[in-house]
Amino acid sequence: MFSRFLRNILSSSLQQLNAAPMDYRVKHRRNQWRAVRDYDAEVINLSDRAGGAALIDFLQDMDLSGKVVADLGCGPGHFLPALKAASKIYAVDWAENLLQQARSRGPGQTTYVTADMRQLQLPEALDLVLCVNALMPESHEDALAILKNMLILLKPDGLLLLVVPAWESFMLGYNLVHFAAAAQGQEQESERAILARFRDYFNNPFGYIRYTDETYRHWLHDEMLLIPALHFGAEVLNVFRLAIRWSDVLPNIQFADVTPPPWLWGAVIQNKVGAARTDTSLRESKAAT
Ligand SMILES: C[S@@+](CC[C@H](N)C(=O)[O-])C[C@H]1O[C@@H](n2cnc3c(N)ncnc32)[C@H](O)[C@@H]1O
Repeated sequence: MFSRFLRNILSSSLQQLNAAPMDYRVKHRRNQWRAVRDYDAEVINLSDRAGGAALIDFLQDMDLSGKVVADLGCGPGHFLPALKAASKIYAVDWAENLLQQARSRGPGQTTYVTADMRQLQLPEALDLVLCVNALMPESHEDALAILKNMLILLKPDGLLLLVVPAWESFMLGYNLVHFAAAAQGQEQESERAILARFRDYFNNPFGYIRYTDETYRHWLHDEMLLIPALHFGAEVLNVFRLAIRWSDVLPNIQFADVTPPPWLWGAVIQNKVGAARTDTSLRESKAAT
């Protein structure tokens, strides 16, 4: 009974998700970001959390002198100051309201570009692309097309430093919250409420989790290792955790001191000459959507 009900809601909602045209979903997401007024209150300022501070240290340890770099989906520019050793910085976002805020944070050598990173072209090849929590694909093909464009922007052997939400972390957090609530004898949600939430979170293609009316891709560690290598012949130099304190995401949680904190995946991916440029199949599949 339960499983038939589950199957029904899963299939009907999946149809709805797939029915929304790609252009509509992209525009809708862009408009959501264009409507953000107070980023730190409405979203999250990762740069002042534990994981963000580690990322800033990481960037400051890189030798960026004389390098041309870009921060794709820079939002209000919290990570731009960490790039100040570079000779040129491109700060890119499709939300002009957020770029406007980034202007007060970017070092003097920053050029601000309003663009969708899917179509982004820059006048020169880059040594480093930084993309922190800004890879927001609408489908797997779209994810590959965006990643491909990031690699196309790089010089041969240039680096992509990609930070994305971790699927494993989401699942662990989700389970812990439920087990902790049960163990503490807290009032349980009704089955209907759990199903409604379950449907919103998980009734999407693998790795996509629905918050409010947006669908966000979460990534497995092994995907971080395999996708750039298999699809683009890029070399994944490192995949690491950027841990966020429990207190930064869920205050007053009981088990914070006995479980690992939530985390994002960071990956350092090195472009390999020609690999991204010769694979035309993705461009074709993107044009067909
Ligand atoms: C969660 S915020 C992250 C901002 C910043 N990187 C940080 O970590 O503080 C995501 C940002 O990515 C931007 N973004 C998402 N998809 C984009 C796209 N296709 N092209 C350009 N910007 C995009 C959004 O407008 C938003 O500013």
